[in-house]
Amino acid sequence: MTKFKALVVSETADKEYFSEILERSVDDLPPGEVLIRVRFSSLNYKDALSASGNRGVTRRYPHTPGIDAAGEVVGSDSDRFKPGDEVLCCCYDLGMNKPGGFGQYIRVPAAWVMACPGGLSLKEAMMYGTGGFTAALSVEKLIAHGLKPEDGKVLVTGATGGVGSLSVAILAASGFRVVAASGKSDQADFLQSLGASEVVGREAVTDKKGMALLKTKWAGVIDTVGGEILATALKSVKYGGVVTCCGNVASPELPTTVYPFILRGVSLVGIEAAQCEMAIRERVWGKLAAQWRLDTIADLVTEISLADLSAQIQLMLAGGHRGRMIVNLDR
Ligand SMILES: NC(=O)c1ccc[n+]([C@@H]2O[C@H](COP(=O)([O-])OP(=O)(O)OC[C@H]3O[C@@H](n4cnc5c(N)ncnc54)[C@H](OP(=O)(O)O)[C@@H]3O)[C@@H](O)[C@H]2O)c1
Repeated sequence: MTKFKALVVSETADKEYFSEILERSVDDLPPGEVLIRVRFSSLNYKDALSASGNRGVTRRYPHTPGIDAAGEVVGSDSDRFKPGDEVLCCCYDLGMNKPGGFGQYIRVPAAWVMACPGGLSLKEAMMYGTGGFTAALSVEKLIAHGLKPEDGKVLVTGATGGVGSLSVAILAASGFRVVAASGKSDQADFLQSLGASEVVGREAVTDKKGMALLKTKWAGVIDTVGGEILATALKSVKYGGVVTCCGNVASPELPTTVYPFILRGVSLVGIEAAQCEMAIRERVWGKLAAQWRLDTIADLVTEISLADLSAQIQLMLAGGHRGRMIVNLDR
């Protein structure tokens, strides 16, 4: 009976949540066709919500979060995978209502598993992880809408976050002029090192006057925070411009009018990574492994152990961390 280490979040009688590293048994994992020895995971905002008792993400505790996992197949009942294959499993219900990548083993349906994209190591794949995949999906949507570098500046909000920092880096590497909006005034150098041509504070991209429309500034916007910042982006994007929406760290509310849509032909495009179909995953991960592969990816990544996770989750919930965080399950 194989034993392994996992971060386990439990609930107290007073509905408080605490994490500890416990020994688990492979026999206790849920059924599934593929057993994977996880080598690396990554920390995403959804994991922080799961670890803090958010019932919209995780219904039952004790629970092991971790929506991302990269490792080797140990056992497989699927003819798509064999022991030793290097694979990724990202999202679906992993780490939400099924034990996730913050454990050294996962067992999952074969339909959730994809081969590690050619050229990326397991560790590099987790440097991108769901945050990078979401950034790449967002950039793809802007380009599919017809956005070109010569059209003007592209705004990225929540720019020091996982999705935000990779959006800045991929857009800049693709030739776009990127304006990074961040609440961290001390991180301007970091954002410029990723390729941002300008860094502005959140207040500069938040309309407090409740105007229906504002002077146009952006050819496109990747918004990762929602709320008034997303509403302001819609009012400030130019005629025919496009805004993607993936997150709600600022607010799930969207206080907008119809005017950006009916007077400027603005498009608001939703981004959804969790249930995204496998063909799209393979295409987008293929881009992350090739034309959107970043030479500087390691500069925006911090490697941590399971023991470091609790503190980093608190920092993430407070909006205080920077870039991407990968979890080495063997440290
Ligand atoms: N739709 C999908 O499929 C999908 C996939 C992945 C992620 N997401 C969502 O996308 C969002 C970002 O995810 P992530 O993993 O990149 O999270 P993250 O690493 O925690 O980044 C979020 C960033 O937002 C900014 N921020 C934090 N609190 C804020 C506030 N109150 N008001 C305005 N900005 C604030 C911060 O950046 P600055 O300090 O630089 O402003 C923070 O670093 C989350 O809501 C997540 O759930 C959705």
